[in-house]
Amino acid sequence: MHLRAHVLIVDFLDEAHLLVAEGSARCPLLRKVYFMDDYTKANLAWWNEAAIVHALGDAYELASFKAGKTKLHPLELEEVGNVAGKRLLHLQCHFGLDTLSWARLGAKVTGIDFSDKAIEIAQSLGQELKLDATFIHTDIYKLPDVLDAAGDFDIVFTSYGAVGWLPDLQPWGRIIAHYLKPGGFFYIAEGHPFMWTFDEKSTDLKILYPYFSKEPIKDESEGTYAEKSVKLVHNTTYGWNHTFSEIFNSLISAGLTIDFLHEHPFCAWECFPDMEEGEDRFLRFKDPAKRDLIPLMYSLKATKTTT
Ligand SMILES: C[S@@+](CC[C@H](N)C(=O)[O-])C[C@H]1O[C@@H](n2cnc3c(N)ncnc32)[C@H](O)[C@@H]1O
Repeated sequence: MHLRAHVLIVDFLDEAHLLVAEGSARCPLLRKVYFMDDYTKANLAWWNEAAIVHALGDAYELASFKAGKTKLHPLELEEVGNVAGKRLLHLQCHFGLDTLSWARLGAKVTGIDFSDKAIEIAQSLGQELKLDATFIHTDIYKLPDVLDAAGDFDIVFTSYGAVGWLPDLQPWGRIIAHYLKPGGFFYIAEGHPFMWTFDEKSTDLKILYPYFSKEPIKDESEGTYAEKSVKLVHNTTYGWNHTFSEIFNSLISAGLTIDFLHEHPFCAWECFPDMEEGEDRFLRFKDPAKRDLIPLMYSLKATKTTT
């Protein structure tokens, strides 16, 4: 009960963008207060707009999704396998189309995202389509404060443009392990760390971002990755590149065993300007000579072998 009250206050403080120093003497309830840093504030403002733009725009094809089309690609469908009856936790679920696609396949799904707008849309879609899904509005790093379900999930899933929004992968790995049952697995399909080092606006494959840097990367591009011509009010975001060793070690040190790592020459979004979409809905370079030059994506499965 105390914890709930604490969490509500914390959420309110986040909304109001109030900063209260850790260790407030006046109110013991506020002793441990999470405050939203400027990077998160900027990203949240952008994602709240992007969620609405994506739900209203063409790229996410909401009408065909509502009519029954899955948003999942053959890759993750095959690599995750049968989810019927499985409890699946979807981290950074955006406005829920992948989450609800897993629900249609019989998974008992919980999607989480820090964008209140994305979660509102996801909840209303779940109700409209009468799909059994729970959506939680929370920053991923605060999830253990609001979701009391340690060891409850068979599968933790995340995909396509998720980890680059997170500054630190060590707590991310611990959160994944925290929610998995022993024997349960984590699956991720994501942009390749090497791909993220290249200038995304150039067709020349020029390295622009240092592979090993831990500094936030500021992006002031207009539009979104899916709706490139839309004008947003907020255009500044911050992201982080993570090396393969950071990704692997955050999972291994949390008690997971890597089952596989697959590297792919295609991407789920137009990560460079000169790409075309295939029948599998993945994008590849138009120029055949570029098609096997660099990896664009990876997929990874890791099992919780410890209790
Ligand atoms: C590119 S989307 C994930 C892609 C998803 N597969 C899709 O396209 O539907 C990234 C998501 O991460 C969420 N996000 C970013 N930072 C977050 C954080 N700190 N905690 C939780 N969610 C976060 C954003 O709101 C956004 O919905």
